[in-house]
Amino acid sequence: MQLSQAQLEQFDRDGFLFFPALFSPEEIARLTDEVPRLYAQDRPENVREKHGGAVRTNFAAHLYSGPFARLARHPRMVRPVEQLFGEQVYMHQFKINGKNAFDGDVWQWHQDYGTWLNDDLMPTPRAMNVAIFLDEVNEFNGPLMFIPGSHRMGVLEAGHDLTTTSYPLWTINNDNIRTLVDKAGGRDGGIVAPKGPAGSMLLFHSCLVHASTSNLSPWNRVSVYLSLCAVSNHIRRHKRVEWIAHRDFAPIECLPDDCLRKDYPVELPWQHGTPPAAARTSLEPLEEAVQ
Ligand code: SIN
Ligand code: MN
Repeated sequence: MQLSQAQLEQFDRDGFLFFPALFSPEEIARLTDEVPRLYAQDRPENVREKHGGAVRTNFAAHLYSGPFARLARHPRMVRPVEQLFGEQVYMHQFKINGKNAFDGDVWQWHQDYGTWLNDDLMPTPRAMNVAIFLDEVNEFNGPLMFIPGSHRMGVLEAGHDLTTTSYPLWTINNDNIRTLVDKAGGRDGGIVAPKGPAGSMLLFHSCLVHASTSNLSPWNRVSVYLSLCAVSNHIRRHKRVEWIAHRDFAPIECLPDDCLRKDYPVELPWQHGTPPAAARTSLEPLEEAVQ
Protein backbone atom coordinates (compact mmCIF):
# COMPACT_ATOMS: atom_id res chain seq x y z
CA MET A 1 0.00 0.00 0.00
CA GLN A 2 1.46 3.34 -1.08
CA LEU A 3 0.34 6.75 0.19
CA SER A 4 -0.78 9.27 -2.43
CA GLN A 5 0.67 12.78 -2.71
CA ALA A 6 -2.53 14.14 -1.11
CA GLN A 7 -2.16 11.71 1.81
CA LEU A 8 1.49 12.68 2.28
CA GLU A 9 0.48 16.35 2.43
CA GLN A 10 -2.35 15.61 4.85
CA PHE A 11 0.02 13.65 7.08
CA ASP A 12 2.48 16.52 7.04
CA ARG A 13 -0.25 18.98 8.04
CA ASP A 14 -2.21 16.95 10.62
CA GLY A 15 0.30 14.35 11.85
CA PHE A 16 -2.04 11.42 11.25
CA LEU A 17 -3.98 9.51 8.60
CA PHE A 18 -7.15 7.48 9.11
CA PHE A 19 -8.14 4.50 6.95
CA PRO A 20 -11.67 3.34 7.90
CA ALA A 21 -12.37 -0.40 7.45
CA LEU A 22 -9.00 -1.13 5.83
CA PHE A 23 -9.09 -4.73 7.08
CA SER A 24 -12.06 -7.04 6.48
CA PRO A 25 -14.17 -8.60 9.27
CA GLU A 26 -12.66 -11.99 8.35
CA GLU A 27 -9.11 -10.65 8.81
CA ILE A 28 -9.99 -9.00 12.11
CA ALA A 29 -11.69 -12.15 13.45
CA ARG A 30 -8.34 -14.01 13.26
CA LEU A 31 -6.95 -11.45 15.70
CA THR A 32 -9.91 -10.96 18.04
CA ASP A 33 -10.27 -14.74 18.46
CA GLU A 34 -6.73 -14.79 19.85
CA VAL A 35 -7.00 -11.91 22.36
CA PRO A 36 -8.78 -13.73 25.27
CA ARG A 37 -6.08 -16.45 25.26
CA LEU A 38 -3.35 -13.80 25.41
CA TYR A 39 -5.04 -11.74 28.12
CA ALA A 40 -5.63 -14.87 30.24
CA GLN A 41 -1.93 -15.70 30.37
CA ASP A 42 0.09 -15.06 33.47
CA ARG A 43 3.04 -13.37 31.77
CA PRO A 44 4.92 -10.15 32.58
CA GLU A 45 3.87 -8.81 29.18
CA ASN A 46 0.30 -8.39 30.51
CA VAL A 47 0.02 -5.05 32.36
CA ARG A 48 -3.24 -4.91 34.29
CA GLU A 49 -5.31 -1.84 35.20
CA LYS A 50 -4.69 -0.22 38.56
CA HIS A 51 -8.11 -1.34 39.83
CA GLY A 52 -9.56 -4.75 38.93
CA GLY A 53 -7.73 -7.36 36.93
CA ALA A 54 -8.52 -6.25 33.37
CA VAL A 55 -5.55 -6.18 31.00
CA ARG A 56 -4.64 -2.59 30.14
CA THR A 57 -2.03 -3.57 27.63
CA ASN A 58 -0.38 -6.73 26.39
CA PHE A 59 3.13 -6.34 25.03
CA ALA A 60 5.09 -8.23 22.37
CA ALA A 61 2.42 -10.73 21.30
CA HIS A 62 4.10 -10.82 17.89
CA LEU A 63 6.78 -12.96 19.56
CA TYR A 64 4.39 -15.60 20.93
CA SER A 65 1.16 -15.51 18.88
CA GLY A 66 0.89 -16.65 15.25
CA PRO A 67 -1.87 -14.25 14.14
CA PHE A 68 -0.16 -11.24 15.73
CA ALA A 69 3.26 -12.28 14.39
CA ARG A 70 1.70 -12.17 10.92
CA LEU A 71 0.04 -8.81 11.61
CA ALA A 72 3.46 -7.42 12.62
CA ARG A 73 4.65 -8.17 9.07
CA HIS A 74 1.55 -6.89 7.29
CA PRO A 75 2.35 -4.75 4.24
CA ARG A 76 -0.73 -2.56 4.80
CA MET A 77 0.77 -1.52 8.16
CA VAL A 78 4.49 -1.53 7.37
CA ARG A 79 4.82 -0.23 3.78
CA PRO A 80 3.36 3.28 4.37
CA VAL A 81 5.86 3.84 7.19
CA GLU A 82 8.76 2.64 5.02
CA GLN A 83 7.53 5.07 2.38
CA LEU A 84 7.43 7.99 4.83
CA PHE A 85 10.95 7.27 6.13
CA GLY A 86 12.52 6.09 2.86
CA GLU A 87 14.06 3.29 4.89
CA GLN A 88 13.20 -0.11 6.35
CA VAL A 89 11.78 -0.23 9.87
CA TYR A 90 12.06 -2.50 12.91
CA MET A 91 9.52 -3.19 15.66
CA HIS A 92 10.22 -0.84 18.57
CA GLN A 93 7.03 -1.74 20.45
CA PHE A 94 4.01 -3.96 19.86
CA LYS A 95 0.97 -3.74 22.11
CA ILE A 96 -2.68 -4.75 22.32
CA ASN A 97 -4.52 -2.20 24.45
CA GLY A 98 -7.67 -3.56 26.07
CA LYS A 99 -9.58 -0.41 27.13
CA ASN A 100 -11.99 -2.87 28.62
CA ALA A 101 -15.72 -2.14 28.94
CA PHE A 102 -16.35 -0.24 32.25
CA ASP A 103 -12.74 -0.76 33.47
CA GLY A 104 -10.49 0.68 30.76
CA ASP A 105 -8.53 3.55 32.32
CA VAL A 106 -7.32 6.82 30.78
CA TRP A 107 -4.17 7.48 28.77
CA GLN A 108 -3.02 10.96 29.75
CA TRP A 109 -1.97 13.59 27.18
CA HIS A 110 1.45 12.66 25.84
CA GLN A 111 3.75 12.28 22.86
CA ASP A 112 5.17 8.81 22.36
CA TYR A 113 8.50 10.18 21.25
CA GLY A 114 8.88 11.90 24.64
CA THR A 115 9.04 8.47 26.27
CA TRP A 116 11.20 6.94 23.54
CA LEU A 117 13.69 9.78 23.89
CA ASN A 118 13.74 10.03 27.68
CA ASP A 119 13.72 6.33 28.46
CA ASP A 120 15.17 4.59 25.41
CA LEU A 121 17.51 7.29 23.97
CA MET A 122 15.95 7.04 20.52
CA PRO A 123 17.94 9.65 18.57
CA THR A 124 15.18 11.29 16.46
CA PRO A 125 11.38 11.01 15.98
CA ARG A 126 11.84 8.78 12.90
CA ALA A 127 9.40 6.29 14.40
CA MET A 128 5.68 5.98 13.84
CA ASN A 129 2.60 4.42 15.37
CA VAL A 130 0.22 2.36 13.30
CA ALA A 131 -2.95 1.31 15.11
CA ILE A 132 -5.64 -1.10 14.04
CA PHE A 133 -9.06 -1.25 15.71
CA LEU A 134 -10.12 -4.77 16.73
CA ASP A 135 -13.44 -3.39 18.00
CA GLU A 136 -15.60 -0.59 16.72
CA VAL A 137 -14.40 2.71 18.17
CA ASN A 138 -17.21 5.14 18.98
CA GLU A 139 -17.64 8.27 21.08
CA PHE A 140 -18.44 6.21 24.18
CA ASN A 141 -15.62 3.67 24.48
CA GLY A 142 -12.63 5.99 24.90
CA PRO A 143 -11.50 6.86 21.36
CA LEU A 144 -7.97 8.08 20.86
CA MET A 145 -7.91 11.91 20.74
CA PHE A 146 -5.37 13.89 18.72
CA ILE A 147 -4.38 17.55 18.63
CA PRO A 148 -3.94 18.00 14.84
CA GLY A 149 -0.64 19.53 13.81
CA SER A 150 0.88 19.20 17.30
CA HIS A 151 3.62 16.93 15.87
CA ARG A 152 5.17 20.05 14.33
CA MET A 153 5.98 21.45 17.81
CA GLY A 154 8.81 18.92 18.22
CA VAL A 155 9.48 17.41 21.63
CA LEU A 156 7.45 19.13 24.33
CA GLU A 157 8.25 19.41 28.00
CA ALA A 158 6.88 16.40 29.89
CA GLY A 159 6.78 15.08 33.43
CA HIS A 160 7.10 11.42 34.38
CA ASP A 161 3.70 10.38 35.76
CA LEU A 162 4.18 7.22 37.82
CA THR A 163 0.90 7.29 39.72
CA THR A 164 -2.22 8.12 37.67
CA THR A 165 -2.53 4.71 36.02
CA SER A 166 -0.75 1.36 36.27
CA TYR A 167 1.58 2.38 33.43
CA PRO A 168 4.25 5.12 33.75
CA LEU A 169 4.08 7.81 31.07
CA TRP A 170 5.83 11.10 30.23
CA THR A 171 2.82 13.45 30.21
CA ILE A 172 2.18 17.06 29.14
CA ASN A 173 0.67 19.51 31.60
CA ASN A 174 -2.82 21.02 31.24
CA ASP A 175 -1.66 24.59 30.48
CA ASN A 176 0.40 23.39 27.54
CA ILE A 177 -2.48 21.23 26.28
CA ARG A 178 -4.82 24.23 26.44
CA THR A 179 -2.39 26.29 24.36
CA LEU A 180 -1.91 23.50 21.80
CA VAL A 181 -5.65 22.93 21.42
CA ASP A 182 -6.26 26.67 20.95
CA LYS A 183 -3.53 26.84 18.33
CA ALA A 184 -5.08 23.84 16.50
CA GLY A 185 -8.48 25.58 16.26
CA GLY A 186 -9.92 25.37 19.78
CA ARG A 187 -13.49 24.10 19.72
CA ASP A 188 -13.29 24.09 15.93
CA GLY A 189 -11.09 21.03 15.32
CA GLY A 190 -8.48 21.57 18.05
CA ILE A 191 -9.15 17.99 19.20
CA VAL A 192 -10.22 15.18 16.88
CA ALA A 193 -11.11 11.56 17.69
CA PRO A 194 -11.20 9.29 14.62
CA LYS A 195 -13.97 6.72 15.03
CA GLY A 196 -14.93 3.78 12.87
CA PRO A 197 -15.58 0.07 12.53
CA ALA A 198 -13.25 -2.74 13.56
CA GLY A 199 -10.57 -3.07 10.90
CA SER A 200 -9.90 0.67 10.66
CA MET A 201 -6.26 1.76 10.71
CA LEU A 202 -4.64 4.91 12.10
CA LEU A 203 -1.13 6.05 11.31
CA PHE A 204 0.27 8.79 13.54
CA HIS A 205 3.50 10.71 14.04
CA SER A 206 5.51 9.96 17.19
CA CYS A 207 5.38 13.64 18.22
CA LEU A 208 1.60 13.95 17.78
CA VAL A 209 0.02 14.81 21.14
CA HIS A 210 -2.68 12.28 22.05
CA ALA A 211 -4.75 10.86 24.92
CA SER A 212 -7.89 8.85 25.60
CA THR A 213 -10.51 8.93 28.34
CA SER A 214 -11.69 5.97 30.38
CA ASN A 215 -14.21 3.53 28.94
CA LEU A 216 -17.47 3.67 30.87
CA SER A 217 -19.40 2.03 28.04
CA PRO A 218 -20.34 -1.67 27.95
CA TRP A 219 -18.15 -2.09 24.84
CA ASN A 220 -14.48 -3.10 24.81
CA ARG A 221 -12.13 -0.97 22.73
CA VAL A 222 -9.30 -3.35 21.87
CA SER A 223 -6.69 -1.80 19.54
CA VAL A 224 -3.27 -3.00 18.40
CA TYR A 225 -0.38 -0.54 18.11
CA LEU A 226 2.77 -1.17 16.12
CA SER A 227 5.51 1.34 16.87
CA LEU A 228 7.82 1.15 13.88
CA CYS A 229 11.24 2.80 14.02
CA ALA A 230 13.61 3.50 11.10
CA VAL A 231 16.41 0.97 11.45
CA SER A 232 19.15 3.65 11.51
CA ASN A 233 17.27 5.39 14.37
CA HIS A 234 17.31 2.42 16.76
CA ILE A 235 17.30 3.03 20.51
CA ARG A 236 20.61 3.54 22.30
CA ARG A 237 19.70 2.31 25.80
CA HIS A 238 17.96 -0.67 27.38
CA LYS A 239 16.49 1.11 30.40
CA ARG A 240 13.16 -0.63 29.83
CA VAL A 241 12.50 -4.35 29.63
CA GLU A 242 12.69 -5.89 26.19
CA TRP A 243 8.95 -6.58 25.82
CA ILE A 244 8.31 -2.82 26.13
CA ALA A 245 11.27 -1.51 24.07
CA HIS A 246 12.58 -4.11 21.65
CA ARG A 247 16.28 -4.80 21.10
CA ASP A 248 16.16 -6.63 17.79
CA PHE A 249 16.84 -3.93 15.21
CA ALA A 250 16.53 -6.26 12.18
CA PRO A 251 14.32 -4.80 9.45
CA ILE A 252 10.81 -6.22 9.19
CA GLU A 253 10.35 -8.45 6.14
CA CYS A 254 6.72 -8.14 5.04
CA LEU A 255 4.50 -11.13 4.26
CA PRO A 256 2.02 -11.10 1.36
CA ASP A 257 -1.14 -9.00 1.70
CA ASP A 258 -3.30 -12.06 2.50
CA CYS A 259 -1.24 -12.95 5.59
CA LEU A 260 -4.19 -12.57 7.97
CA ARG A 261 -6.19 -15.08 5.94
CA LYS A 262 -3.47 -17.68 5.31
CA ASP A 263 -1.28 -19.21 8.00
CA TYR A 264 2.15 -18.33 6.62
CA PRO A 265 4.88 -19.81 8.85
CA VAL A 266 6.37 -17.34 11.36
CA GLU A 267 8.88 -17.73 14.16
CA LEU A 268 7.51 -17.45 17.71
CA PRO A 269 10.67 -17.22 19.83
CA TRP A 270 8.85 -16.41 23.11
CA GLN A 271 6.03 -18.96 22.81
CA HIS A 272 7.34 -21.03 25.72
CA GLY A 273 7.96 -18.01 27.94
CA THR A 274 9.84 -14.74 28.20
CA PRO A 275 13.61 -15.20 28.01
CA PRO A 276 15.25 -14.11 31.31
CA ALA A 277 17.61 -11.76 29.44
CA ALA A 278 14.59 -9.74 28.28
CA ALA A 279 14.02 -8.54 31.86
CA ARG A 280 17.58 -7.22 32.24
CA THR A 281 17.82 -3.44 32.05
CA SER A 282 20.57 -0.85 32.20
CA LEU A 283 20.87 2.90 32.60
CA GLU A 284 24.07 2.90 30.54
CA PRO A 285 23.90 3.84 26.86
CA LEU A 286 24.75 1.04 24.44
CA GLU A 287 28.48 0.78 23.84
CA GLU A 288 28.24 1.73 20.16
CA ALA A 289 26.52 4.98 21.22
CA VAL A 290 29.45 6.01 23.47
CA GLN A 291 31.99 7.55 21.11
C1 SIN B 1 -1.16 5.06 23.76
O1 SIN B 1 -1.11 6.27 23.72
O2 SIN B 1 -0.12 4.40 23.67
C2 SIN B 1 -2.46 4.32 23.87
C3 SIN B 1 -3.63 5.17 23.95
C4 SIN B 1 -4.89 4.40 23.85
O3 SIN B 1 -4.87 3.19 23.57
O4 SIN B 1 -5.95 4.99 24.01
MN1 MN C 1 0.87 6.91 23.07
